[in-house]
Amino acid sequence: MLKGDVRCLDVVGSQWGDEGKGKIVDVLAKDADWVARYQGGANAGHTVRIGDDQFILHQIPSGILHPGKRCALGNGVVLDPVTFFEEIHELERRGHKVDGRVLVSSRVQLVLSYHKLLDRAQEASRGKGAIGTTGRGIGNAYEDKVARVGIRVADLAAPERLRELVEAGTARAQGKLRALASDTAVAAGQIYDELCGLAPRLLPMACDVGLALRKALDRGEKLLLEGAQGAMLDVDHGTYPYVTSSNTTAGAAAVGLGLGPTAIDAVLGVVKAYTTRVGSGPLPTELPPEQAAHLRELGAEYGATTGRPRRTGWFDAVVVRYAARLNGITALAVSKLDVLDPLPELKLCVGYGLRGERLEEFPADLAMLAEIEPIYETVPGWQSTTSDARRLEDLPSGARAYLDRIGGLTGLPIRYISVGTRRREIIDVEGSGAG
Ligand code: GDP
Ligand code: IMO
Ligand code: MG
Repeated sequence: MLKGDVRCLDVVGSQWGDEGKGKIVDVLAKDADWVARYQGGANAGHTVRIGDDQFILHQIPSGILHPGKRCALGNGVVLDPVTFFEEIHELERRGHKVDGRVLVSSRVQLVLSYHKLLDRAQEASRGKGAIGTTGRGIGNAYEDKVARVGIRVADLAAPERLRELVEAGTARAQGKLRALASDTAVAAGQIYDELCGLAPRLLPMACDVGLALRKALDRGEKLLLEGAQGAMLDVDHGTYPYVTSSNTTAGAAAVGLGLGPTAIDAVLGVVKAYTTRVGSGPLPTELPPEQAAHLRELGAEYGATTGRPRRTGWFDAVVVRYAARLNGITALAVSKLDVLDPLPELKLCVGYGLRGERLEEFPADLAMLAEIEPIYETVPGWQSTTSDARRLEDLPSGARAYLDRIGGLTGLPIRYISVGTRRREIIDVEGSGAG
């Protein structure tokens, strides 16, 4: 899709995350010069499979697995510097050269150990009302950013200021932990020493990412932007408060990289051929336990970051239409079609019923969401293998009809269809190979 006039393509999740963005970004990265993350942090888990090797990327953009491609982390990301270097170490150990290929915005906010402690302590204190966060300190780091007390990569270059910021952050975190009845001690000196130890490796990667990407575009290079999470986890537009703490929709790409919105030429929405969610909160098309477990096993639906079982449900066109509007999606990539191969019958949610009325739009109110009844269309399954299909014509007619219905219900063209975890298991509807 990165061809012709499309020189900057944003890939976003259009459901509750884990749509298969990592695989799609990896497939498209061969046509890109740069792959950039712009929001979220180590809460993301993006799976890429190369041959028999599986990689789960948390903070490094999925383009890293293509030799020679450059990667960038924009200011909108919250970076856990300790696990970032662990991830780099692991990639290098497995034969992927990372050194010199990753840029980090000097404006990136850091996630420190006390953010993770607070995340877990707050979750524990919520009891039954827990959000089911990934425990990666994401919300707490964004809280500090918005409160204007966060610590940025640029601060690593000024040891005295860094010490003051760490001491103030530690004292604040300690107070909050105490209020949560946690007696965990946070040691400012240890955090400061750790950051000073990492600074000589992190600072050489630090720059003005917006400027670097603008210059790259001006040189005619191509950018692939890699969204994390999905539209329904967006802090403004998702199922609040059961959301993540960043804007996950396409508008965030401009802000989170320091590019103007007009730099983005197209938005590819990744959707699973069904729906999943990990963590708490509304999931209108959720299946009853036995069927949910069956689909979970078929799709190997376990969180890439936390290993938690994902909740599963039928495809929800109300959700994807909403995501299309919020993101300005120009085309869809439908993933995991192969997972539905064995099912004799499938359902698609085409609208919601509420107190005798039909609802076409996703409601803001959680109480309303608890009351809605999905309106389903039932279609026959195809019960044959789709993983070998490389062209639309190779798919069984039932699978094509199902995809046509997704296209019709969402009003979006389907550009890619993923039929397995491997790079080659993809159909580019507009060409022979993916492009
Ligand atoms: P992301 O967070 O959006 O990158 O998605 P995850 O990596 O968290 O979850 C997607 C899971 O589905 C991973 O285990 C992928 O290997 C797998 N996957 C991606 N595309 C396909 C597909 O077309 N078919 C099958 N069977 N699995 C897929
Ligand atoms: P990728 O990029 C799926 C969910 C968590 C929880 C909520 C808040 O792999 O699609 P947080 O730790 O962000 O404060 O948790 O958001 N969540 C994700 N769910 N995929 C993700 O990322 C997610 N990142 C966060 O499960 O419900
Ligand atoms: Mg994931």
